[in-house]
Amino acid sequence: MIAPRVFQKIDEIRREVVAGRQRGLRVGLVPTMGALHAGHASLIQTARAECDVVVVTIFVNPTQFGPNEDFDRYPRTFAEDLALCESNGVDYVFAPDRAEMYPPDFRTYVTVEGWDSVLCGASRPGHFRGVCTVVLKLFHAIPADVAYFGRKDAQQWLIIRRMVRDLNVPIEVRSVETVREPNGLALSSRNRFLSESERRQAPAIYSALQEAKRAVEGGERRPEIIEKLLRDRLSAVPGLRLDYAEVVSTETLRRPVKLGGETLIAVAAFLGSTRLIDNIIIDVSP
Ligand code: PAF
Repeated sequence: MIAPRVFQKIDEIRREVVAGRQRGLRVGLVPTMGALHAGHASLIQTARAECDVVVVTIFVNPTQFGPNEDFDRYPRTFAEDLALCESNGVDYVFAPDRAEMYPPDFRTYVTVEGWDSVLCGASRPGHFRGVCTVVLKLFHAIPADVAYFGRKDAQQWLIIRRMVRDLNVPIEVRSVETVREPNGLALSSRNRFLSESERRQAPAIYSALQEAKRAVEGGERRPEIIEKLLRDRLSAVPGLRLDYAEVVSTETLRRPVKLGGETLIAVAAFLGSTRLIDNIIIDVSP
């Protein structure tokens, strides 16, 4: 395996990517905040299978963390991240510092109005404004053909897809299935903060989502009943504090009167101080 070339400057990575595209190469982009795990590896492998050039970005984006969130303790594991990139055949890693992405007089932000204040946005004000802003900047720094996002962060993927549509950004946004531990726990960079006992409780989130899915498959079409089922199951889990359990349409991010079409069943919950999210997306026949 060849080690990926690491870039820190926007102009330099952009020059390289533009040159590749001019030669007719298809470029895939995997934006990350590092602390890479098998979920990221799956995004990279999908990009590797579909593109000639694969670029991974590693940048812990300060603007998507609230004042009381875990920016300082967010894991930074650059050496391990590079090794994972190398073993998965990544060509370029873009790892800018904060000043490269946010010069001191930075004052332009992107919001997908309304969609940034529901679900995770309700308890993380400003989070999706930070995500959209940095992702649009990354799309400009790395003008790729296609960008890959994990479905675990379903709201993020849907918001970015909408931003790209609304602002006519010339990039295809793809989503890749969540990677799970054998017990169902969705892989996340934050899982490393879970204690032994929290790790034992965490798979309850996916079990509850599976039960919700079975209820829909069994004919239940009232979103409030599905949400109640999730609340009931999760309130019985010792040490788990539910942030939200919601059932929304992927077209509107709103709860429909009656389920139909592509539907996102999403949960966010705290185990100790670690916030976990997970979801299931299902196509519901009317
Ligand atoms: O999903 C993430 O890791 C981040 O939100 C992203 C998309 C890299 C933006 O900072």
